[in-house]
Amino acid sequence: MYKQIQLLDHHIISGEDALTVLKTLFSSGDYKNRSFFLLTDHQVARHCLPILKEHLPTDNPVHHCLIPTGEEHKSLKSSRKIWNFLNKHGADRHSVLINLGGGVITDLGGFVASTYKRGISFIHIPTTLMGMVDAAIGGKTAINLNWTKNIVGTFAQPDAVFVFPGFLKTLHEKEINSGYAEILKHALIGDQKLWDALKGSQMKDIQDFSDLISFALLIKSEIVAQDPHEEGMRKVLNLGHTFGHAFESLFMEKGAPIGHGEAVAAGLLCESYLSGVVNNLAPALAEEIKTTLATTFSLPEIAPTDKESLIQYMLKDKKNQQGKINCTLLENIGKARFNQFIPEKLVDDALHYYMNTCTH
Ligand code: GLY
Repeated sequence: MYKQIQLLDHHIISGEDALTVLKTLFSSGDYKNRSFFLLTDHQVARHCLPILKEHLPTDNPVHHCLIPTGEEHKSLKSSRKIWNFLNKHGADRHSVLINLGGGVITDLGGFVASTYKRGISFIHIPTTLMGMVDAAIGGKTAINLNWTKNIVGTFAQPDAVFVFPGFLKTLHEKEINSGYAEILKHALIGDQKLWDALKGSQMKDIQDFSDLISFALLIKSEIVAQDPHEEGMRKVLNLGHTFGHAFESLFMEKGAPIGHGEAVAAGLLCESYLSGVVNNLAPALAEEIKTTLATTFSLPEIAPTDKESLIQYMLKDKKNQQGKINCTLLENIGKARFNQFIPEKLVDDALHYYMNTCTH
């Protein structure tokens, strides 16, 4: 059983038979006589590669490139290693890079593939919930630079994305968190019914994420199809991420990285406060968002002295214009507004609100 969504000129295949479809694709005419390369990290190689192996092309050896696990490896250093690996093994313009892993691997692999020899084909096989509902979908590729998240990258669409929820069994709760934060975000920007269903449930009680993945894939694909290069409405997908990325950068710089889920949850909390101030989001809704986030995630604590660093990271955010911090904020559940330029004083107020929430 599998579902298929057409996004621009490729398909997203999701479901328990997704890898069988992948195997069929590899034996189709389009992929004959092409060389294949696989990028993954050490952890995924241990837990997911054995499952994927029997679905890989068999005609020629698939060369594997492994990088260490972790956001700090979404870097220029790793990119260089992968470009060298492709070059050393004779990858040409018809070669295909298979990216097996979470958001780090699909962002990094997409970036390397889209720049090697001016761009080669790539296929994403996300193994984390975050990868399945967000990172691997929509053609954004990126690496980090000096702890600033996703500051170098391209827009490049994969040949296809294969979402096999069975990989989620290999994850710990902390890793599920990241994807769950993105699912909550998708509900907040695009689906009030989904939000109403999720706000009262506990993430740990969800046994099967397949339906939630399908919802999230639909919401995201519809938005990306209308604005693949984020010239306008795709920016709604950044809800929670202006603050969230700054949190992630701050803790990476401190040498104590936090999960993307915790960072996005912190970002959603700050930005729902700003939604109240700037867009008059009803206080009861802001409260509902706060309660849902605070009961689901372990929100990272910050000190007053961290506020300035967080603001400095936000001032470097790639969405800004003319030095102004740019957020997506909510007007209501299911209705987000992008390009909301926030004065530093309000950013500071939101961080103050966040600190009070976390210490109560
Ligand atoms: N993660 C936000 C986007 O893909 O646009």
